[in-house]
Amino acid sequence: MQTKGNKERHKKILVAPSVLSADFSKLGEEVRAICDAECDYVHIDVMDGHFVPNLTMGPMIVKSIAKASSKPLDIHLMVKNVPFFVELFAPLKPAFMSVHIEEVQHLHRVIWQIKDLGIKAGVVLNPHTNEQDLEYILPDIDLVLLMSVNPGFGGQSFIPSSLKKLKNLKQLRDRLNPNCLLEIDGGVSDKNIMDLKNAGIDMVVAGSYIFGSNDYRQAILSLR
Ligand code: DX5
Ligand code: ZN
Repeated sequence: MQTKGNKERHKKILVAPSVLSADFSKLGEEVRAICDAECDYVHIDVMDGHFVPNLTMGPMIVKSIAKASSKPLDIHLMVKNVPFFVELFAPLKPAFMSVHIEEVQHLHRVIWQIKDLGIKAGVVLNPHTNEQDLEYILPDIDLVLLMSVNPGFGGQSFIPSSLKKLKNLKQLRDRLNPNCLLEIDGGVSDKNIMDLKNAGIDMVVAGSYIFGSNDYRQAILSLR
């Protein structure tokens, strides 16, 4: 018989490559390549130049990505004026849409705005944000996205305290909403994947690690 611990150890980690690290001059090709390499989701980093010091993709580009993708989208909104961006990207029918707790004033309302649009809702925590802040929203959400770098850029180093936060968050999640997925974003590679797995991660975002490799399939496999 498989014990719970056993089951968790053998659990398949979901992998969402971040297209932020793709070659934008051949975006369609890159998106098809990660889908052919059997990623689970395609992670989209939307940055507005206000919430974070970088500007990335609007809905026109994300629509082209969605067309090239055979996998569902995982949209990470790093923006101010969150309800506006939720409406803007909702017609693309992503699987997940996640918003930063640091930016949203009426988080419960925004989460239900996303869910009422038929999209799974996630909350993102910056590296300095305490996981206990999620206590009263966890039962309503489908995903927590832990930032293990400061949002804004790909290719940064993993912040070590994220591991302790993930362990604490897992306890909170198991107690309040076992169906909610735990995802981590920033500096993920084959160097830290076992620690993340042992701490209970369900899903990882990886940009530079996957797109910087010369074999996307192998890179994705090494994170599973
Ligand atoms: C950072 C983004 C990440 C980023 C991850 O603000 O949210 O999704 O692309 O890139 P890597 O895996 O290179 O740290
Ligand atoms: Zn992201």
